[in-house]
Amino acid sequence: MFTIMSLKILGIESSCDDTSAAVLFDAKLYSNVINTQHIHEKYGGVVPELASRAHQQNIVLVVKEALSVSGFKLSEMDAIAFTLGPGLLGSLMVGASFAKGLSVATGIPLVGVNHLHGHILAHMLREKEEDGFNVKFPYLCLLVSGGHTQIVLVKDFLSYEILGKTIDDAAGEAFDKCAKVMGLGYPGGPLIDKLAQIGDENKFSFNKPRIKALDFSFSGLKTSFLYYLRDSLKQNPEFIEQNINDLAASLQKTIIEILLEKLIKAVDLTGVTQIAISGGVSANSGLRKSLSDLAFEKKWTLHLPKLKYTTDNAAMIALVGHFMYLSGKISNLDVIPQARLDFMNI
Ligand code: KG4
Ligand code: ZN
Repeated sequence: MFTIMSLKILGIESSCDDTSAAVLFDAKLYSNVINTQHIHEKYGGVVPELASRAHQQNIVLVVKEALSVSGFKLSEMDAIAFTLGPGLLGSLMVGASFAKGLSVATGIPLVGVNHLHGHILAHMLREKEEDGFNVKFPYLCLLVSGGHTQIVLVKDFLSYEILGKTIDDAAGEAFDKCAKVMGLGYPGGPLIDKLAQIGDENKFSFNKPRIKALDFSFSGLKTSFLYYLRDSLKQNPEFIEQNINDLAASLQKTIIEILLEKLIKAVDLTGVTQIAISGGVSANSGLRKSLSDLAFEKKWTLHLPKLKYTTDNAAMIALVGHFMYLSGKISNLDVIPQARLDFMNI
């Protein structure tokens, strides 16, 4: 149905704390500039007002740099793809308003992209010198980010079905909240990943939830982790410092097991053995290793995104924009970003 035409797409992403712009030509990346806002680190989480301000400050330079690195001019773009939602409203407004301004000034069509669809296609991103991607539909995508945890049946570039999702916290939130309890910085996921590398993952065990079908739950794990630490600290005030690597490794192992048990179930239910992962948590080295081992054992075909495309970036927004433009999904100039944009909104 779709062909890779020689389209040039400018992508703009500003849904959370990364200001990013990318240029895609022929569905290949000619640039992908990401400015990650570090201002939030000292607050232990993203502060929405500060995020909007930082996007406002960065966006012109980031877009200019993405164009300049790509070697293309703005006037050569076929479409401007930007993140419509979900995300922080103030942050989304900065990217959307900037994209609209560019569109009005140049007459280039706008394409409003669902951020989550970007993550779902992220494993297809290729640099200009690489061969194109080779993907077979349908595939199952385990989308694990700071705000979402779901298993999606991807039937085509723009055709998706959610098979299961979290009923409370996302996997990334579980990493971040447990890291906070241990006095680590933000975001906690990468810190736990690093600490876990020299830890004993079998030292501690935490309860796994019993949730029906393909849904997930992480809030119970966070609470049991908190209570376990609280009780242990009563016996030994140095408990966290003395066990930090083993705590990180055991927690990470539990999160990975929760995720992979449901993924196995999804494969059993659907018979689909093409598997992808995406979202910030898909950068986790333990998850990548366990999933690679599992895929080998079960003879699944695994599509891992490159590390740099696991967290938020405009390249993935440009790629979805490419397919949306090809299928005529152009946005009107009065389109409004939505913090809670529905997943099925294409
Ligand atoms: O996809 P993303 O950049 O933003 C959202 O759309 O949410 O995901 C951010 C999440 C954070 O919770 C962060 O802690 C987690 O991804 N994360 C990781 C790792 N790198 C990022 N979690 C575990 N291990 C990592 N290496
Ligand atoms: Zn994201």
